[in-house]
Amino acid sequence: MMERIDRLIDEVRDMAMVNEHPAVLEIIKHRTPASVYPVRKVGNARIVKTPYSPGYYDYSTVDGYKLYHLAKTQTVTSLQRRDTTGNVSRWRTWMDDNPRHWRVMDAFAHELHGKVLLGGLGLGLVLHALQDNTLVTQIDVVEYDADVIKLMKHNMPTDGRINIIHADLWQYQMVAYDSAMIDIWVWTSLAQKAATLSEVVLCIERVLSKNRDCEVAIHGWPTLSHPRFNDALKLDINKGG
Ligand SMILES: C[S@@+](CC[C@H](N)C(=O)[O-])C[C@H]1O[C@@H](n2cnc3c(N)ncnc32)[C@H](O)[C@@H]1O
Repeated sequence: MMERIDRLIDEVRDMAMVNEHPAVLEIIKHRTPASVYPVRKVGNARIVKTPYSPGYYDYSTVDGYKLYHLAKTQTVTSLQRRDTTGNVSRWRTWMDDNPRHWRVMDAFAHELHGKVLLGGLGLGLVLHALQDNTLVTQIDVVEYDADVIKLMKHNMPTDGRINIIHADLWQYQMVAYDSAMIDIWVWTSLAQKAATLSEVVLCIERVLSKNRDCEVAIHGWPTLSHPRFNDALKLDINKGG
């Protein structure tokens, strides 16, 4: 692991020397709409605050940056869900507002338009970022976890365009949308990731069957996303995530 990190840092230094563009994004102060969410627990879901220590973190080539650097400790807000397998119960992070996530959610939100489908409520970052997007007329958020919906109730923007739909995205009775953002990044194993990917592909097919011009962004799968979302992030899709 340490070897891989050393190799990555060397690679980044080389890039910094040969490219005009700096390879590392320097973050002085990290704040997002979720920074003000209070620490709270509802059933099996909770909001927690986590310190990110000074150091280098993955930026997945977003805006051309491979890494970002924190010179000082920054606080990140996380949505966690209690996962119980047999007798073992542990909290797992389903979403956090780290600098890369916030940049990606904000960029996606600015590319959405018309009647929008959001798969997964999470920390509601996209909803905040959509506030100044006047091209969006309706926002349907499909979220399968009742505790997450309750937890997020007081953290969401007040916006008449938002409809929270308590349903499993895979069972949801699809209607026509102009654009969509699917972000259901909650797997805990590679097998689960593969299963989710198959479901995501089926979901894209269902969205497109209602409107073949619908522009879909899939967080974490740039190769499946409409190019406008990757362009907004200046993402190198051969290298980024
Ligand atoms: C990564 S978070 C979404 C983050 C969100 N885009 C934001 O802006 O904060 C993933 C969310 O998807 C939800 N989710 C996972 N699988 C789902 C499914 N099959 N149907 C509906 N919601 C799902 C989880 O409960 C979680 O709230």
